[in-house]
Amino acid sequence: MGPFCRATRFLLKVLTLSFAAFAYERCGDTDNNCYKWALEGGCENSSDSIEIYCPLSCGSCEPHSCSAQEANEDFCTMDLELRDEENGGMHCTFWHNLPGRGPINVSFLSEVETHVGVIKLQGAFSMHTYEDHVFRFRDAGGEILATLRMVKSRIVLNLDDDFIASLTNCVDRPQEHWDKTCDIWAKEEQCVRNPGFMTVFCAKTCHTCHLREEDLRCARRYLPMSQKPVLQRGDMDQMFQDIKDRAQKYSSNVQILSRSPWIVAFEGIILEEEIAELLAAQGQENFRRSKDQGDPDSFGLMKAIVSSNRTSQSAWCQDTCKELPSYIAVTDRIAKIIQVPTDHFESMQFLKYNVGDYYVKHHDMNEEKDNDRACGPRIYTFFLYLSDVEEGGETYFNQLNISVKPRKGLGLLWPSVLSENPTVRDDRTMHEAKAVLRGLKVAANVWVHLFSYEIPNLWACTGGLYR
Ligand SMILES: *[C@@H]1O[C@H](CO)[C@@H](O)[C@H](O)[C@H]1NC(C)=O
Ligand SMILES: *[C@@H]1O[C@H](CO)[C@@H](O)[C@H](O)[C@H]1NC(C)=O
Ligand SMILES: *[C@@H]1O[C@H](CO)[C@@H](O)[C@H](O)[C@H]1NC(C)=O
Ligand SMILES: *[C@@H]1O[C@H](CO)[C@@H](O)[C@H](O)[C@H]1NC(C)=O
Repeated sequence: MGPFCRATRFLLKVLTLSFAAFAYERCGDTDNNCYKWALEGGCENSSDSIEIYCPLSCGSCEPHSCSAQEANEDFCTMDLELRDEENGGMHCTFWHNLPGRGPINVSFLSEVETHVGVIKLQGAFSMHTYEDHVFRFRDAGGEILATLRMVKSRIVLNLDDDFIASLTNCVDRPQEHWDKTCDIWAKEEQCVRNPGFMTVFCAKTCHTCHLREEDLRCARRYLPMSQKPVLQRGDMDQMFQDIKDRAQKYSSNVQILSRSPWIVAFEGIILEEEIAELLAAQGQENFRRSKDQGDPDSFGLMKAIVSSNRTSQSAWCQDTCKELPSYIAVTDRIAKIIQVPTDHFESMQFLKYNVGDYYVKHHDMNEEKDNDRACGPRIYTFFLYLSDVEEGGETYFNQLNISVKPRKGLGLLWPSVLSENPTVRDDRTMHEAKAVLRGLKVAANVWVHLFSYEIPNLWACTGGLYR
């Protein structure tokens, strides 16, 4: 390795350290799977990388556990001083103290490279910028010394060629069935109100080209959300131990159907008038054939596919539905019973099963994909029966031989994961919806995630189906 190259490596190392120093003050994980690896014993075994990249999950977070001092050695060239500014921007200072490299040119990288300033040896250069903006540093000979992305508490500096190419190669992808263009959506402030959807389809217009790739948009540490799982090892068992006491004031009869795994039924958990209000807000036209998730496209959105596995109709509670007093009351009630805040909930999904409709044996957690996502896996299903059914339509837990007959107002709670490791699927809660033989079954799902769901969903990071 020549001195040139070594200098560059040092520079990168120093930059990494100064970012790391800042990151350690905030002390966060750098991968969506950190919590999972920690539970699997990754922190105890001596692979040092997991300690570095997963300090939060490994319990090694201490304020200033890595000081910025190391950045003041010979090759200290830059010292980033980032502080939040009122309007979401950041202020940063670049230093240059790299003898022999002459003045360093700083340019801003988006679709094109724009020159923004020169730093002289021993000089400093201060500017206002925004999170995720990318800057490039070149010496007098044009050699790239470093490429930096503005980050708050992130240790990501090695921007490879693919990343750079993704910035310079960015187009909008308006869909055929849209009645508006990206421009019009943007004027209606959709880039801000609906950033995930807009990034996927209108990245150029919204200036979010750098966020198109799912890995960069959807890592938990990049999202303005709590980095902590709502369950630690064993918490779930604790929650269920005293669930009867907590639920008594909301339910006329709380029945524990199984203790391993836990399955609990709550009579009258949703009131007649609440059911009426919620269903009145779902026009018949909102109900569509229920779909399964297909393969993701290159930006992480799933295609919706119709399958013979489930034949019900479903509708999601969205927008104004989520503002209904009944919606708020019911979700708050569930949150109190299960001790998980409502931002961990998916929007309520309403279901209609006509005579003959069913959902074959399945599980609510997808073990392969769910731990990779910022919202983590579904940990609980709180199922609400919104009608009586004359015959059929039972929820049947195949491995437990437990069958629950639909009754209007009844709630049923079961976990999808294990109490001792909430990243691992509990196969015992496989279940099916038996075919309705007489009558109509109306019901609703409330799915609850290990990490917050709302923010990842806003950023199109939940594998949501775009219908
Ligand atoms: C070390 O941790 C990793 C998780 O990062 C795990 O896959 C591996 O099995 C662990 N090795 C040992 C010996 O425990
Ligand atoms: C910096 O960039 C500008 C604009 O591209 C160029 O004119 C100038 O020569 C560069 N200076 C150095 C020191 O590389
Ligand atoms: C339908 O169910 C079968 C068996 O449970 C499963 O293998 C298959 O992947 C399911 N199909 C879809 C589209 O979910
Ligand atoms: C399942 O439960 C039903 C009703 O409790 C019982 O009649 C039946 O024998 C059970 N089946 C098995 C395989 O245990």
